Amino acid sequence: MSDYDVAKVRAHFPALESGLAFFDGPGGSQTPDAVAEAVRSTLVSPISNRGDLTVAQDNAERAVVGAREALADLLGAAPEGVVFGRSFTQLTFDLSRAMAKDWGSGAEVVVSRLDHDANVRPWVIAAAAAGATVRWVDFDPETGELSTDSLDDALSDRTRLVAVTGASNLIGTRPDLPAVAERAHAVGAWVYVDAVHLTPHASVSLAESGADFVGCSTYKFLGPHAGVVAGRVELLERLDPDKLVPATDRVPERFELGTLPYELMAGATAAVEFLADLAPGAATDRRARLEASMAALEAHEDRLRERVEEGLRALGGVTLHSRAATRTPTVLATFAHHDAGDVSRRLAAQGINAPAGTFYAHEPARRLELGAGGGLRIGLAPYTDDSDVERLLEALAGCL
Ligand SMILES: Cc1ncc(COP(=O)(O)O)c(C=O)c1O
Repeated sequence: MSDYDVAKVRAHFPALESGLAFFDGPGGSQTPDAVAEAVRSTLVSPISNRGDLTVAQDNAERAVVGAREALADLLGAAPEGVVFGRSFTQLTFDLSRAMAKDWGSGAEVVVSRLDHDANVRPWVIAAAAAGATVRWVDFDPETGELSTDSLDDALSDRTRLVAVTGASNLIGTRPDLPAVAERAHAVGAWVYVDAVHLTPHASVSLAESGADFVGCSTYKFLGPHAGVVAGRVELLERLDPDKLVPATDRVPERFELGTLPYELMAGATAAVEFLADLAPGAATDRRARLEASMAALEAHEDRLRERVEEGLRALGGVTLHSRAATRTPTVLATFAHHDAGDVSRRLAAQGINAPAGTFYAHEPARRLELGAGGGLRIGLAPYTDDSDVERLLEALAGCL
């Protein structure tokens, strides 16, 4: 799309001055100057615990309130439902334990073979502790699509929760979330979406997806290392997490153990602002700017993804595992005559970061029969441009 100016975007990333080409965004993105500055200025300004008595207290308070509002805009959620934590993994373990307090031995929990282990194992472990049963939803390795038949088989009036990915961090598949939510809600289950890999690439909306909880990690979309889960406030209010006696019982603070990372929250706000400014058009409110910017980014990344896929196919001896009809710009490749790890090492030696492995997508990698070495993952990010892609394809041609 012509309103996406990648050169302008790239000028904000000091890490690009290294001359490296970054295709490792699904593992964690590079950081724009405004995010680093927000972290720094929060730390060097007067800062203390939250309150309304001193400037230092007010700065902490504003970092928290600002971050909840920013993440609410990003995730199409209410600020009161935005829970911050160290990582998506930590928050999911915490929330799974809180939810499981209400599960008995007849309860069932549905997880998918398409998910990163962060949205599988916490539920499996919580279910085991509660005596609940785990049901699995499969995906088709040929198409990469989540199986709706398998979902229907897994659901019953005993299902309490469906945990599903918004996008696979291994092969990019974006399941039809409203369809999953509709089926889950029809049996009275809650829907917990891992949008860690979706949020950097597309507009996400808790409300429109039909989900009850949606989580992301700010370091995947240009922010600092933290995790966020936004939930429907009325459901969060029904949960009773473990907490200290003097800690507030308010939602969302009830779920945020200890002192919040004010500087990371300020950095997360700056990351959301940066995304909203990628290609905002005429819109003025932040949610509308985000939607316009993410649509422009999606078009830019889709165009580059098609070029990557076309280039890889032309090389021969390459299997592309990312095949779903709707997917993120994340291409997983294996090679007939080369180990993916060797290819990754040869690229790294040429300043091209494209890692190989299974990326904690334990179940999908097994389902695809990738073996321990996994595949080469080529992930695009807001700062990826045509020259990065051509450099990658040329280097691959020299490796294979
Ligand atoms: C799809 C997906 N879910 C969950 C995670 C885990 O996120 P965090 O590092 O915030 O725990 C990742 C990290 O790679 C991921 O890609």
